Amino acid sequence: MASTSTYDLAAIRRALPALAEVVYMNSGTEGIMAEPVLQAYFAVLGHFERYGYWDRPRIAGAFAEARQRLANLINADPDEVGVTHGGTDGVSIVLGSFGFRPGDQLLIGDQEHPAITYPAFALQAVAGIEVRRFRFCHDPRETISSFTSQLTPRTRMAAFSHVSCETGIRVPAAELIQIAHEHGVQVLLDGAQSIGMFPVDFRALGCDYLTGSVHKWLCGPKGTGVLAVRRDRLDDLTPRYIGGGSFAEGFPAGDLNRPETVQIKFAPTTARFEYGMRNPALYAGIVSAVDYLASLGWEAIAEHERRMITRLKERLAGIDGVVLQTPMEWEHSSALLNFRLEGVSGRELSRRLWDDWKIVQRAVREPEGVRLCVAYFTSDEDLDQVIEAVLAIRRGKS
Ligand SMILES: Cc1ncc(COP(=O)(O)O)c(C=O)c1O
Repeated sequence: MASTSTYDLAAIRRALPALAEVVYMNSGTEGIMAEPVLQAYFAVLGHFERYGYWDRPRIAGAFAEARQRLANLINADPDEVGVTHGGTDGVSIVLGSFGFRPGDQLLIGDQEHPAITYPAFALQAVAGIEVRRFRFCHDPRETISSFTSQLTPRTRMAAFSHVSCETGIRVPAAELIQIAHEHGVQVLLDGAQSIGMFPVDFRALGCDYLTGSVHKWLCGPKGTGVLAVRRDRLDDLTPRYIGGGSFAEGFPAGDLNRPETVQIKFAPTTARFEYGMRNPALYAGIVSAVDYLASLGWEAIAEHERRMITRLKERLAGIDGVVLQTPMEWEHSSALLNFRLEGVSGRELSRRLWDDWKIVQRAVREPEGVRLCVAYFTSDEDLDQVIEAVLAIRRGKS
């Protein structure tokens, strides 16, 4: 593991001007972009917007470079990786393109983001599938047993978050994937809250599909995400959104003036889902964002986040009236936590943390509380501010 002694937190924070004004604890919704990344991204964006198609040859390489960077990051082959509009987009591509038949079951967790629950229930309504749910538990053995008990001969796919956006629980993904495969069930792993937070290894996990956001923990351009599809699963997905970029060789075969002669063959890579016009500046921004964090060291980032969240959990747990709704152990949790304060609603707690203390976070509906995310830039002073705020809110209340 990389040493964190070279981790220059002061320099890291200087590159993030928002930190002079707020305590930023919501990378789980949107990350904040470091100045060097922003400048590189804006330079490409500005040039492209000013020069348009004339600028194309100069920036065309950004498409492959972004896929390459993301592939390296998650240990996938670049051909297995596509760029999406975000985590929701990736999940919807997989669930919407998979050949579900009426009566098939889709297994999801009980702490999913709408990115999974909404398309799952939409498919239940319009395609006649049945949605079943397993429990995200603090004890991974209970999660495994709940997952296993929900599998039936009709289960076709399991789609679940690697890390819950509500509690920060990290599920035992590799074990669940293995169990699913033993039952002939494919797995879509939603890495929106894990990719960029700690190392996520597509190959080692063995999942069939992996999705994630680039604008959260990777602090890349807003409206970007990643989709990895295992090479041997690509033809299990039938693209529904189709346009330039979807087909092998770039064109359908045959004579378009004689429709009966036309034959289509989808591009042999996950980039087949990147149909139509794509903004190359976003791809260049992805490259800069990933390179920037890589220069700090992925292991060092994960180690920093592990130390910060552990410290924060211990300090919060020491406050009378605080109930932590997240496991303590890093291996079973992540860089985000959910806590509540007895006698104060989650919404009220969230409002006061922002209004009175300028702490950027969000309320969680279920389990009701507030979600705090530490990040690669979180400092001890940030934690002090959170603790001071919670103590003051508690005093104000009692
Ligand atoms: C677990 C999880 N999946 C998917 C998403 C959706 O990601 P995006 O906002 O990139 O569409 C989120 C967003 O918060 C999430 O937490």
